Amino acid sequence: MRIKDNALVARLKDLGVELRPGVALSEKTSLGIGGTTDQLLLHRYESIPGVMRLLADNDIPHRFLGGGTNVLIGDGELSWVALHLPPAHPGVRIEGNLAFADASADLGGTVTYCAKHDLGGMEGLIGVPGTVGGALRMNAGAYGMQIGSYVREVELYRASKGNVETIRGDDIRFDYRHTSFAPDDVMLQVKLELPSKPYKQILASIRVCNEKRRSSQPLNQKSAGCIFKNPPGGSAGRMVDELALKGFSVGDARVSERHANFFVNAGHATCADMLSLIAQVRERVHAAYGVELENEVILWTQ
Ligand code: EPU
Repeated sequence: MRIKDNALVARLKDLGVELRPGVALSEKTSLGIGGTTDQLLLHRYESIPGVMRLLADNDIPHRFLGGGTNVLIGDGELSWVALHLPPAHPGVRIEGNLAFADASADLGGTVTYCAKHDLGGMEGLIGVPGTVGGALRMNAGAYGMQIGSYVREVELYRASKGNVETIRGDDIRFDYRHTSFAPDDVMLQVKLELPSKPYKQILASIRVCNEKRRSSQPLNQKSAGCIFKNPPGGSAGRMVDELALKGFSVGDARVSERHANFFVNAGHATCADMLSLIAQVRERVHAAYGVELENEVILWTQ
């Protein structure tokens, strides 16, 4: 989608928004898939309510793209613009056992920063790519932990009310790869309470997690992590593997040879290729096991 109205372009500029026309989102996602649209970089947190109201008043559909590591975006010209929060380096502040992290902070960087301040608990998340905001929204987890366990407060922009709110951790439901945030809530900052642990000890756990991940996941290939959620009591990866679907492809979209719940872009895969691969694998699993696998990857294909 292209923003062509000069008056709107000028108002966005006044709000400190940098408009980058016609950006290929395939360059902004870990899958290397995604069509073209205008990209709006919000350089100031304070401008978010104003920008959101302006876009709503002008009927401009929009989506916040974080790290782009767990999303499958449609091909061609997209019908919405992509918003990005101001980058945060490191985007984390520590006070005792509390860590205040910006939504746009890198998740791995945040885990490491906390570790250096002798705060642990999140070691399992070390290899999970993406931003803190994305991890929060999805309740990212790995190796027996999930980020939701440590959340004490979230500051967010609540689109339904048009203002910034602070929500207590106890008032948010964190389930397996799912949270009670509204789809149009925009994560801004999170307050985490983390257990004290010596840096060396955290580092040792981080190394173990990294090693496990390296040995079981295709980290050097373009992917969005696991495609399907694990069904209750089961493993999507094991089921796909048992059906001998590793290497099964549609175009350049391929079931990883290393981990069957990772679907990789082995070249120039399109979103259509990936959707077709997902549908075919889901169908085969359903036929064999009677289980309807749910997507873990977020689809922005409409
Ligand atoms: N397995 C196979 N073949 C495969 C892959 C896995 O037989 O190709 C078997 C493994 O041997 C193991 C079982 O399936 O017995 C589970 O596999 P694994 O330990 O790799 O974990 P997973 O359940 O497939 C989950 C998360 C990952 C997370 C790991 C580590 C989901 C959907 N996936 O994978 O998260 O990194 O545990 O904690 O919950 C993600 O969210 O994108 C993601 C990759």
